[in-house]
Parts: sequence; structure tokens; C-alpha cells
Amino acid sequence: PTKLRVSQALSGAELGSNIKVQGWVRSVRAQKANVFLHVNDGSSLQSLQVVASSELSDPLLTFGSAVEVTGILKKSPHQKQPVELDAKQINVVGECNPVDFPFKIKERHGLEYIRQFPHLRCRTNAFSSLLRIRSEATAAIHSYFKDNGFVEINTPIITSNDCEGAGELFQVEPSGPDYADGENFFSVPAYLTVSGQLHLEVVSGAFSKVYTFGPTFRAENSQSRRHLAEFYMVEAEISFTQSLEDLTKVMEDMFRFATEHVLAHCVEDVDLFHKHVTPGHRDTVDAMIKNSFPVITYREAIDILRRSSERFAFPTDWGCDLKTEHEKYLVKHCGNIPVFVTDYPYDLKPFYARDNQDHPERTAAAVDLLVPGVGELCGGSLREERLNLLSARLEEYLDLRRFGSVPHGGFGLGFERYLQCILGVDNIKDVVPFPRFSHSCLL
Ligand code: 4AD
Ligand code: MG
Repeated sequence: PTKLRVSQALSGAELGSNIKVQGWVRSVRAQKANVFLHVNDGSSLQSLQVVASSELSDPLLTFGSAVEVTGILKKSPHQKQPVELDAKQINVVGECNPVDFPFKIKERHGLEYIRQFPHLRCRTNAFSSLLRIRSEATAAIHSYFKDNGFVEINTPIITSNDCEGAGELFQVEPSGPDYADGENFFSVPAYLTVSGQLHLEVVSGAFSKVYTFGPTFRAENSQSRRHLAEFYMVEAEISFTQSLEDLTKVMEDMFRFATEHVLAHCVEDVDLFHKHVTPGHRDTVDAMIKNSFPVITYREAIDILRRSSERFAFPTDWGCDLKTEHEKYLVKHCGNIPVFVTDYPYDLKPFYARDNQDHPERTAAAVDLLVPGVGELCGGSLREERLNLLSARLEEYLDLRRFGSVPHGGFGLGFERYLQCILGVDNIKDVVPFPRFSHSCLL
């Protein structure tokens, strides 16, 4: 027999052939003469219907068990599925006691329930759809950058810098008998990266357009629906920028490209979310793609917040950091589509953000992209390339500016927040295979 993935079998290409599929039983139904199975192998949301004569039935053939089925692929007489496998042989490879198995046949378990089983949730429809979408969105982001002349740079995961200066670092130290005396392996304190920006800036000084897409670590001590200790960030850095528009254009184009790609390539998986998991969210996604993203300044944002009748928990004076509640309000105010907020107070942004010297209020050429349901999705800025202005701020950064320094800028997009945004998922822990957050490092 030809070994096929379930998705290949479902495409109907091998009709009439003797094939073998391997997967996990999603349903079992016994009738007098026949037993019907649905077998899923993660290659698609759909399972393959298997029809076997009762002699092939086996008490171990239960919901959740792993099986190998060999038989002839036939056109199905049923409307609901294109093909079925007429089984000649069924092997139960791995038993599963359905009483102990935390998921029950034909039940739709909520994201919160399945989150308790990090080792099993990929066996549910919702989470397997999520992982396929995540994989496709990753591919889309890489192709966006490739198509637009960016070079991918693998920035280091272990680093001695705290790019954001927020002090949310995980320190890296060797362990094991050779290092019992607390020997300092790198001779300087080393950390897991909070951002690849500084390394990208270095390479952008020779390549003009670069990006990185990798794991990022922050010791955020908050129990929040949009923060993880380990998350994936897409970061781009572009040289010879003239204004923030050079950045907002890339952010918006990338967002639209990746989202359209996912909608086109993961139709069933996205539908599962938009119809059953987060009903109604499709309209939001369509509006995000159709409309161009408005741009407002931080000053305008503050004015909007102050004029609103909403009671905010946090203050809304000039100089205040925008909190999630403010960001969500601004998104609603702008029509529930992504909105860029630019020109933040200089003191709110990290040392590298470029000083807008012409503003009466002291601002930096920084921009955040706020999106429905999530708030901040991207943070970016023009970088301070003027040595004299920077010297007051940071000694170490200076050598990056001494040799052929050009105006440049970049941004970072939180990939998990992006998935939350397009799927309408409320909790960031539901869009990552194995979430890490404070007091939780399961599996
Ligand atoms: O705004 P941030 O901190 O920007 C930077 O790190 C810049 N150095 C990026 C750059 O310009 N190259 O982080 C960027 C994005 C945020 O907008 C948010 O979406 C995401 O990363 N993010 C997190 N996502 C999940 N969990 C966390 N703890 C996150 N912290 C930031
Ligand atoms: Mg930020």
C-alpha cells in the first residue's frame, strides 16, 4: 500500500488505490455489519472516514487510540465527505482508555479546559487548527520579507545587552559540576534576548533591509492575557529611512499580506475559529484587511481619551503610558480596525528612539500599532543615529554610530498577539504550543 497523509487521501488523488493511513481515532461507531471510524493525523481539520466489516472490530479501537489502517480508497456515497477508506486491515498501535482520556467524543471543549492538558491539546480540533494556522502564518511572514528584499538574520538568543532597558531579563548561567563555584562563563553577565533589535541595527548598517523572527524572553511578572515569558517576535530594521511612514508601510503591508495568506490557505481551520471558537470575529478580520490603518499622534490619542465619557482605571494625562484599556478604547474609537499611534513622549520610549527635535512637546519618532481585542501589536521607531544626541544617553551604543551611520528605523511585532488578533483569541496562552509564564513551565 501507498502511505498517505489524511489530507492527501481526502484530496481524492489516489481513488481506487490500496493505501495506508496512520493516525488517531476521533470517533467510533459500530453497526451490525460494519464499524465506522474517523481517523485524524493532524494534516487537516477533516478526518478520514474508515469503513470496516465488524470482523475487523477490536475492543481496543477506542476514541483517542492510535491506528494504522490499510485498505482501498473509494468515493464516498455520503454527501458530507468526498472519500472513504474501505479497510482491509486495522492495527491498534497505541491504546487509549477513553475513560481516562480528558477529551470526550463529540464534545466541544473550551480553550480554557484544553489548556490544562499541554501534552494532549494538539489532539483537539481547535488547537490543531491553531497550530496549522500558526505554521502557515510563519511561512507567510517569511515570504513577505523575502519577496520584499529583506535578508533574514539569526540574531543571538544569548546576549549581554538589555535592549529595552526595562530590566525584564532572564540571566543565563552555566550549571553542572564544572561550574559549581559560580564561575562566570561569558566573563560578563549574559541574558536571554528581549529583542534582536541592536544586532539587526548592526547588520542593517551593511544590508539596508533585514529581519529576524525568533524566540524572545521577558521576565514579565504579570498574569496577563497578552504577555508570555517566551514569545516569538518578528523584527525588521530598515536603513535610509526618511520618516515613520517608511516603517508603518511595512507593518501594514506585512499584516495584510500574512492575514490574506492565512485566510486563503487555511480556510477550514480559520472557519473553525471564526464560526465556533470566536464567533463573529470574521467581520472584524475582513474590516482590518479592507481598510487602511488610520494614523494618529499620541497627542491626538490623549485628546480622544480625555474627551471620552469612559471611566478609565489609569490616568490619561500627557506623558502617561497608554495601558491596555486605553489602547482598546482607541481601536474602538477608530472603527475597530488597527490604528497607528505616533510621536510618543520622549521619556516613554527606550534610549534608541529618535528625538523629534521640531516638536514643541518633547516627543520621539516612535510608533505603536494597536489592534482589535489585543491592543499593542507592534512597537517601532526611527533610531537616534546622531552621535551627539545619543551620547548623553548611552555610552555603549556609540560605536554603532561612528562608521557610516545612516538614518534608520525598525519595529517588532509580537507573533502570538498577531494570532490572537486574526483569530479573536482572548488569552495569549491559547496561541502557543507550550506557554511559559510566571509560575508555569509545564512540560
Ligand atoms: O514594544 P516592544 O517591547 O519593542 C521592542 O522590543 C523593539 N526592540 C522592537 C524593535 O523595534 N525591533 O516589543 C515588540 C512587540 C510588542 O508590541 C508586543 O506585541 C510583543 O512584542 N511583546 C510581547 N508579546 C508577548 N509577551 C510579551 N511579554 C511581550 N512583550 C512584547
Ligand atoms: Mg512596546
